Amino acid sequence: MNLVIGGTGLVGSHLILELLSREEKVKVFVRPGSSKNQILQTFRYYNNEAQILFDKLEWVEGNIMDYSSIVNALEGISRVYHCAAMVSFSPGDKDLLLRNNVDGTANVVNACLKKKEVKLCFVSSIAALGHSEDSEEVTEAHSWKPTIKRSIYSVSKFKSEMEIWRGIEEGLEAVIINPSVIIGPGNWKNSSSAFFPLVYKGLKFYTHGVTGFVDVRDVAEIMIQLMNSGVKNDRFIVSAKNASFKELFHLIAKALNVSPPKYEATPLLLNIASRLDGIKSAITSSQRKISDDTISAATSQNAYSNRKIRELLGFEFRNMEQTINDCAGFYLGQMWNKGKS
Ligand SMILES: NC(=O)c1ccc[n+]([C@@H]2O[C@H](COP(=O)([O-])OP(=O)(O)OC[C@H]3O[C@@H](n4cnc5c(N)ncnc54)[C@H](OP(=O)(O)O)[C@@H]3O)[C@@H](O)[C@H]2O)c1
Repeated sequence: MNLVIGGTGLVGSHLILELLSREEKVKVFVRPGSSKNQILQTFRYYNNEAQILFDKLEWVEGNIMDYSSIVNALEGISRVYHCAAMVSFSPGDKDLLLRNNVDGTANVVNACLKKKEVKLCFVSSIAALGHSEDSEEVTEAHSWKPTIKRSIYSVSKFKSEMEIWRGIEEGLEAVIINPSVIIGPGNWKNSSSAFFPLVYKGLKFYTHGVTGFVDVRDVAEIMIQLMNSGVKNDRFIVSAKNASFKELFHLIAKALNVSPPKYEATPLLLNIASRLDGIKSAITSSQRKISDDTISAATSQNAYSNRKIRELLGFEFRNMEQTINDCAGFYLGQMWNKGKS
């Protein structure tokens, strides 16, 4: 039996669907009070029998900050997929982000070590990798270095991954994936899924930042293939294509049939926007939307190599234009349905 931690998220809900489509049994670890709706919604995008699939799921309540709830959830489990994390670039979330992601992952590792005979798949990030010093693509061998200024999210993902490596040293069987920016239909207000409403509502600015992008369905398939293989105690970049944010926004705009952002967000403009956002946040006690970390994420230029996973699994990634067209279709379909109700 599989346990999915973080099943209500973008990655987790697609992973659950992929596991069910392979006739696997799935127990979902959910925080008390969290909405399970995202899981059902994800099923509806791809499957006409979403409710029937949803009814096959087993549930267990818990929180990765609560060690005993994970020990309890591991009853009868041989495979654990840990996709839970807080994703935030807001400076005000620093302490919570570190505690939730790092201490929470330490709890998952310790519970798996106690249970024994469990294989763990951990969703890390390219944020836990180093940068390439020349213009070469970043590989799994590039180590994260504290000397380079990194976002708190990046620190939290690096330290979380370190907990997995610590567990491996203590006898844990684990495999780690480091996905780039994941594209897919999730909560349209959150992380990468939020690009679609942003562009739809007339985003004006783009940046020349470059990073990797990958379809959430490819992430889910690779996780399962790695868990079903004899591979362990290794990490893999999961990224289909390197592209600029300008290219990404143009493809999204084309798929949504709206105008793409016209103006380049220069460093000076971004700096002013960040300062104004800081003042607004201080006055209104609201969450920061633009910070040094978001600016750095949007303007850095890093390309990622997917050679290791392609060669290991013979995996062919989906085409980025197709990924964006599919996701735009899901977004427009949901807007259309909301408009009707
Ligand atoms: N999205 C990307 O572009 C991207 C790229 C690279 C790596 N990643 C990594 O991929 C993983 C999944 O990301 P995602 O995009 O699917 O995120 P997401 O949509 O924000 O989902 C996060 C999931 O984590 C759960 N969670 C957070 N804190 C928890 C806790 N204390 N106890 C139990 N569950 C908790 C959330 O549950 P609730 O419903 O209770 O909030 C939710 O199910 C994360 O580790 C993220 O760092 C994401």
